[in-house]
Amino acid sequence: MKKLTYDELRNMYLDFFKSHGHKEIPNASLIPENDPTVLFTTAGMHPLVPYLLGEKHPEGTRLTDVQRCIRTGDIDEVGDTSHLTFFEMLGNWSLGDYFKQESVKMSFELLTKYLEIPVEQLAVTCFAGDADAPRDEETAAVWKECGLKDEQIFFYGKDDNWWGPAGVTGPCGPDTEIFINDLSKPKCCPECGPACHCGKYMEIWNNVFMQYNKKADGTFEPLKQKNVDTGMGLERVLRVMNGLNDVYETELFSDVIARLEKISGKTYQGNEKLFRKIVDHTRAATFILGDVRGVKPSNTEQGYVLRRIIRSAIRSLKQLGVEDNVLADLAAMFIEKHKKYYPELDQNKASVLESLEKEETLFKRTLQSGLKEMEKVMARLGDSKQIDGQTAFHLYDTFGFPLEFTQEVASENGITVDVDGFKKCFEEHQEKSRAGAEQKFKGGLADHSEKTTAYHTATHILQAVLRRDIDPNICQKGSNLTAERMRFDFSFGRKLTPEELKQVEDDVNAIISQNLPVKMEEMTLAEAQAAGAMGLFTNKYDAQKVKVYTVGDNVSKEICGGPHVENTSVMGHFRILKEEASSAGVRRIKAVLE
Ligand code: ALA
Repeated sequence: MKKLTYDELRNMYLDFFKSHGHKEIPNASLIPENDPTVLFTTAGMHPLVPYLLGEKHPEGTRLTDVQRCIRTGDIDEVGDTSHLTFFEMLGNWSLGDYFKQESVKMSFELLTKYLEIPVEQLAVTCFAGDADAPRDEETAAVWKECGLKDEQIFFYGKDDNWWGPAGVTGPCGPDTEIFINDLSKPKCCPECGPACHCGKYMEIWNNVFMQYNKKADGTFEPLKQKNVDTGMGLERVLRVMNGLNDVYETELFSDVIARLEKISGKTYQGNEKLFRKIVDHTRAATFILGDVRGVKPSNTEQGYVLRRIIRSAIRSLKQLGVEDNVLADLAAMFIEKHKKYYPELDQNKASVLESLEKEETLFKRTLQSGLKEMEKVMARLGDSKQIDGQTAFHLYDTFGFPLEFTQEVASENGITVDVDGFKKCFEEHQEKSRAGAEQKFKGGLADHSEKTTAYHTATHILQAVLRRDIDPNICQKGSNLTAERMRFDFSFGRKLTPEELKQVEDDVNAIISQNLPVKMEEMTLAEAQAAGAMGLFTNKYDAQKVKVYTVGDNVSKEICGGPHVENTSVMGHFRILKEEASSAGVRRIKAVLE
């Protein structure tokens, strides 16, 4: 077998397919665009869905690339020798061009001629057939033609030999998976084969024959064209080529592992599981945070997954006995390593490291007490061996334990979590906070004095100025108004400098002193959104009438219950008293009108 570096493997793959008429296409963001069916890009085919369904691709019918991917479905396997949350997928596609014959033959040529993998170390699987699609004897015959023996070819059903769709609906089909058979390992049982996960066989490549579209009703309709979609695990192949025991021994991880050994004073050997989790999760978090469409830790969607990954890494670090914050340190190493192909990681470096540092500091505050609480809960459990939903929600709400995090800790103790119960509590809580938000939304102010009304208008102007002067992504996270002062919370990742505060203060005053009218209009939420108003948008309100307040011509436009001053001339002089952190990623400004 050929010893190859990361760069060499990447290039060899791309060059091979280019020499077979494929065009290299750029890889896409980890956060899919216009696809509500998945949170992350999980495979190279993902950005190609429209073309697999029949649209014409500008680069033609043969494509190849290296696609960054996140798979959270495999997260429980992370800690073994081959599963990763973030990985790179080498891929090649035929969009209605070649099909089974040519695809298998090209794969075989690359594997045996270029990577020089001995034929006897290969094992492949083919679709066994069912009511949706026939047994794939055709593919098996091509493998035999290539020189594989019967005992190297296995047939399995849909669970193992059908791939896709990536989300709920979309292109999919039977596949042929290619494994490396570790000949030094004995068969674990008479039926031992690629599907038994005993560690003898490791999947490295998957060729999917995408000729069906799965519809929302669960049925499969034939696609207009017969496609091929393949995906090869770059890290796994690198491991195989270099004769290593696991993917973490490759150059993609080895120096980060060495650094962690130094920091922790522990060796990788004997602590593999913890080390693997820490470096895998840190790498995944680095790529999500540093993506071209990067997200921050939060309690919804991608941000929630990110938070869960980071928090799981923080716990593993604690188990390893590491006290200091180290995630940013390790992330910086990954950025250095990957910036050549992903320059955005370097461009976003400061904010990636800052987010990790912050999340680590934040979660460490509650981790210890949360774990203690969990120990108490688990000690009290009777025969049920199940943590109830209410308790899981309490751990989430009070200690910041994502449900999956609680499940992870619990399962290490042979305990399960009532997921439905948790969801119920979660929804009830959301109902309550939504009700609160709606109240505020419809609401107006408790105290309608002239002064609080002026403060209310000041929050709108302040928000507009912060977005204009500091960062267009800033948005209001809360406010608290009395007749004496205003408090305004907004999303932002760092402390504002004295110069910035001075500028904000001056600009708010410049607006106030223009004696601008404040106009109120009623419109539907959809109209408000179209008019560019800021505010709480939920589908529920699309057709509902809301009030939109506009200061001046268009200084600020917000959906709001009011009341507001009729003209800024009555507001007085705005002065900032203080700027401080409110919670993770949220700053607070205290100010007065004099
Ligand atoms: N889309 C296929 C996979 O991810 C190639 O395995």
